[in-house]
Amino acid sequence: MATSQAGEPCAIVIFGASGDLTKRKLIPALYELFARGQLPEGTFVVGTSRTEMSDDAFRESMQPWVRDNAKGFDEKDWATFARKLHYHAGDGATKELYPGLTGRLKELAKSFGIAKTDGQPNVLFYLSVAPGLYEPIIGAIGEAGVVAEGKRWCVLDPDGMAWQRIIVEKPFGNDLASAQSLNMALGRVFEEEAIYRIDHYLGKELVQNLLVLRFANAIFEPLWNRNHIDHVQVTAAETLGVGSRAANFYDQAGAVRDMIQSHLMQVLALVAIEAPSDYDASAIMREKIKLLNVAKPIPARGIERHAAFGRYGSGTNAKGEKEPAYVDEKGVDPERRTETYGAMRVEFDNWRWAGVPFYMRSGKRMAKKLTEVVIEFKKPPTNVFERMGQPATDFVANRLAISIAPSEGISLRVLGKVPGPKFVIDSAALDLDYQERFGGEPIEAYGPLILDATRGDRTLYKHREEVEGGWRLCQPLIESDSLRKGIETYTPGTWGPSNANAILAADGRAWHNPADACSGGGPK
Ligand code: BG6
Repeated sequence: MATSQAGEPCAIVIFGASGDLTKRKLIPALYELFARGQLPEGTFVVGTSRTEMSDDAFRESMQPWVRDNAKGFDEKDWATFARKLHYHAGDGATKELYPGLTGRLKELAKSFGIAKTDGQPNVLFYLSVAPGLYEPIIGAIGEAGVVAEGKRWCVLDPDGMAWQRIIVEKPFGNDLASAQSLNMALGRVFEEEAIYRIDHYLGKELVQNLLVLRFANAIFEPLWNRNHIDHVQVTAAETLGVGSRAANFYDQAGAVRDMIQSHLMQVLALVAIEAPSDYDASAIMREKIKLLNVAKPIPARGIERHAAFGRYGSGTNAKGEKEPAYVDEKGVDPERRTETYGAMRVEFDNWRWAGVPFYMRSGKRMAKKLTEVVIEFKKPPTNVFERMGQPATDFVANRLAISIAPSEGISLRVLGKVPGPKFVIDSAALDLDYQERFGGEPIEAYGPLILDATRGDRTLYKHREEVEGGWRLCQPLIESDSLRKGIETYTPGTWGPSNANAILAADGRAWHNPADACSGGGPK
């Protein structure tokens, strides 16, 4: 059942080459691809940012990060890979950068043997800069005339001419209006098919596996609807605090913008979409857009029934060291009331899901590092065991817990008779640990996603309407004064604020807070 379609060789031009993401994630991920023999032959990297630096200095600055962050670092592989790393100093937001940059790309394309008919290589731009620079850089790329996609489709042999694609990092906008503006800026320069809005959650194995679980197995889909599912929960909990990211980014973002609007919304969409006609980008994107279009808008009045904000207080970490409260982190303005925890209740008004609540929550400094989806089924319609002294209230519902990280697995809670002369019913878990069963190590999501972009596969990327749909749904939360006023301080190491518990309690439900991240389907 395996498919392998090699990527096309290209020049990967990273804007923001001296930034954090480049050294922590992108270069280690590219190295991993290379070491596994998956980086298309001839592919090379050109990092660019304003700092003056030689190729060698760039390579040296990346080496310790690759050593620490890439799996299976090997000196010999690194030496070969490092020759693919180049650096070009300049300001990507000005069109003056581009004649020099394209000259450099042409030269390198020749020496790596990947020049197309016009002498240029395929180019994959990667925007890994401060979000304020996205539009200026996209505009400058456009003005410089680097993108020749239009001309490419007019020639007899389009594959002979170089393509230009762009990967755009999150945050994709700061609200609906800024996301629309960024989408327009991109659309003026690139075709939608050449735009890759990245969400590293889509690169996680178990997120991709959601569609396989649903549509490669015949037993789940008939139950996957409002007749059998009581509700769905999506959780992304982290144990770490915000730390040094507060000043430059987080205090202006918060959990809804940082996690819910993007990552959690994508996970939820894969749980809730209709079956795509095919496993391909446009079919899946179409279903996600359809789903987001039927999401019930969150009302501003009574928003506390649908959403809750919290921020962590001070506490001690596992080593017994004191950790500051969020409001005391460097660069935080307490009056801004930024949430380090957000919870949200969403409903989809379609035939499959009408009346089924979907709850999402994400927080920093929580009890566990855990990303999971919980599908809670309805209880049996009647109790045939009453005569045996088993009140219906003793029965817990079947629950399918899909653990995305750090462990990868699924766990189904079922009920059974406890062996013995007495008639006692209890719950137990049917567990599948993916690593144990299928082996392999979970790999950094960025590598496979970049590889997809080199082969023109947008299946695990986001369409402009998905991004805008996510913002549209979250906009009332972001704008809500009453959620900010009601922000609660929660104790680090717990499952978050009580106002979020109240949302589920009002529906007669409760969050699934596993004692052990791997035992999602455990008895209680
Ligand atoms: C990032 C957020 O997109 O995802 C971070 O900006 C968050 O705040 C991170 O910590 C979580 O990713 P993961 O893969 O560790 O769950």
